[in-house]
Amino acid sequence: MTELSSTAVDTAMRRALQLAALGPVTGTNPRVGCVILAPNGMTLAEGWHRGAGTAHAEVDALSSLSPGQARGATAVVTLEPCNHTGRTGPCAEALIDAGIARVIYSVADPGVNSGGGAETLHAAGVAVEAARLLTEGEAFLVRWLTANRLSRPFVSLKWAASLDGRTAASDGTSQWITGSAARQRVHEQRAASDAILVGTGTVIADNPSLTARGDGDELLGAQPLPVVIGERGIPTDARLHGHPRGVRETGTRDLTVVLTELFAEGIRSVYVEGGPTLASAFVAAGLVDEYLVYLAPVLIGGAGPRQLAIGDIGVATIGDARRLQIEAVEMLGADLLLTARPAATPPPVSPAPAVAADSPPATGPATGFDPAPASASASASTHERTPNVHRNY
Ligand SMILES: NC(=O)c1ccc[n+]([C@@H]2O[C@H](COP(=O)([O-])OP(=O)(O)OC[C@H]3O[C@@H](n4cnc5c(N)ncnc54)[C@H](OP(=O)(O)O)[C@@H]3O)[C@@H](O)[C@H]2O)c1
Repeated sequence: MTELSSTAVDTAMRRALQLAALGPVTGTNPRVGCVILAPNGMTLAEGWHRGAGTAHAEVDALSSLSPGQARGATAVVTLEPCNHTGRTGPCAEALIDAGIARVIYSVADPGVNSGGGAETLHAAGVAVEAARLLTEGEAFLVRWLTANRLSRPFVSLKWAASLDGRTAASDGTSQWITGSAARQRVHEQRAASDAILVGTGTVIADNPSLTARGDGDELLGAQPLPVVIGERGIPTDARLHGHPRGVRETGTRDLTVVLTELFAEGIRSVYVEGGPTLASAFVAAGLVDEYLVYLAPVLIGGAGPRQLAIGDIGVATIGDARRLQIEAVEMLGADLLLTARPAATPPPVSPAPAVAADSPPATGPATGFDPAPASASASASTHERTPNVHRNY
């Protein structure tokens, strides 16, 4: 088998990630891309997954080749080929049947049913390499991976505030803090989520429609399910009753119950747009994966309890503050959008053992951090089926 250059493989993986991004952002299935390379490095075929019930990326790519054309080729895939017969057959079998000699993938499939494709390929004599461009692969799939590892939807919490941190004036008015570009981005973020979550307080105070709309106020093609969290019922004349998806009232404040039920229904991403009470409850429970903070160049002032984005989150002393890391900063018209994630928790620091000056150097296995190789030939032992803990979550 001719060895492809590392650059050719990385280029193919980046292309596969671009192809994956053509798939739908919402729904239960991951976005996956695949590039099939000839032994000389030439691209033979490309494919991507277009959503539940359609061909997986590998099968999509293979479908454009004539019989025997994939023999001896390398498949570069963003996610470990699945091992699972669902609405479509297992990709690992399709690759074996097509005569693929080598599979290089980025992210391991954490699925209990779908995982295990690497072992199947390896057992059939296919060379397998895992974790290629793993950082990029995991970042691309973060919503799907987080949802599947935690068995709850990926949670984005959004708020819009003035530069002095107020989300409303002292009389409760809060509309139009940000400008049209920021508001349009909110609609796009809604459309890219499976559900929008608000508390009963926001529905009663603002009577929102919670639809995803374009800049001409038209409904966008994708409409997330509106979910109202809280014990109270919403008014019978609430605008939400006219939502194209209907409205879900939970009748409970238990966020874990709500998220677990939504996950069971196939919801993998939620966009929390509630008021300060619901937002604080999500933060306090450690259930926020991504913060989307819109900041407008305006000062509102005041000290009302409903004027802040979040209230009590259980932080009494600065050492307990929730540390975040900023992932992106974007100007939208005159406003700023900050995207932040919970900061990685540093590993506990154990006191260094006292070492005598003439002690010989340690010879045993290194303790503590054990970096995985950037690429490793897969074998049954290198593929753990237990869900990984993502470094940011
Ligand atoms: N600037 C912004 O981005 C933004 C966004 C949204 C809202 N707002 C403003 O926020 C204000 C409404 O504030 P709010 O805090 O009342 O709204 P909220 O957080 O949407 O709703 C609060 C209600 O949600 C229920 N709830 C659900 N889960 C809960 C939990 N785990 N813990 C506690 N309560 C829970 C409770 O009602 P039950 O008694 O029914 O359980 C609670 O009273 C409005 O003035 C609105 O304009 C601003």
